[in-house]
Amino acid sequence: MKTILFYGTTTGNTGDIAEKVKSVWSEGDIDLYDVVDTPLSLVDGYDTIIFALPTWDYGEVQEDWQDVWDEVDVIDFSGKQVAFIGLGDQFGYPEWFVDAMGMLHDKVIAQGATIIGHWPIEGYEFDESKALTEDGKHFVGLALDEDWQRDETDGRISTWYKQLIFELGS
Ligand SMILES: Cc1cc2nc3c(=O)[nH]c(=O)nc-3n(C[C@H](O)[C@H](O)[C@H](O)COP(=O)(O)O)c2cc1C
Repeated sequence: MKTILFYGTTTGNTGDIAEKVKSVWSEGDIDLYDVVDTPLSLVDGYDTIIFALPTWDYGEVQEDWQDVWDEVDVIDFSGKQVAFIGLGDQFGYPEWFVDAMGMLHDKVIAQGATIIGHWPIEGYEFDESKALTEDGKHFVGLALDEDWQRDETDGRISTWYKQLIFELGS
């Protein structure tokens, strides 16, 4: 299995998370790229894709992702399994928690992707998020809070990784 992970980061947290995901990834290879210097069209050569992005400025997409935002709409995701990692601050920005992950999810699903890696909302405190599934019980991908719950991150990545591998195999 060949997997690609694209991330964008302003203060480094999402880049660190990408490295952590790579370090637990034991099922085939995973290639990491920063959206700031690599064209998103590279996903064409992969069946399994992970997009990692933080939310900034009251519900906005991180700036490097903003620069490639329109490129997402011309990628054909049919036949591809896509997972998301969203970083945010649930206590500082409780009305916009990991919104950008939901915004990217909605674009990617419109382009035919199969989404894997939904994640339960238990263990987080927030008021609103654009990154929830229709039943409101899950995030559309792995939500991580490096501002308040950094000590939970390794465990969350490890559990989510096992879930992804299970979903990819079933
Ligand atoms: C000015 C500012 C605005 C932010 N806005 C949001 C927000 O609207 N929603 C959210 O969930 N997190 C928000 N955050 C938290 C960041 O997403 C979080 O710190 C993240 O880990 C940053 O990732 P990066 O280091 O990869 O850029 C904000 C942080 C700052 C400093």
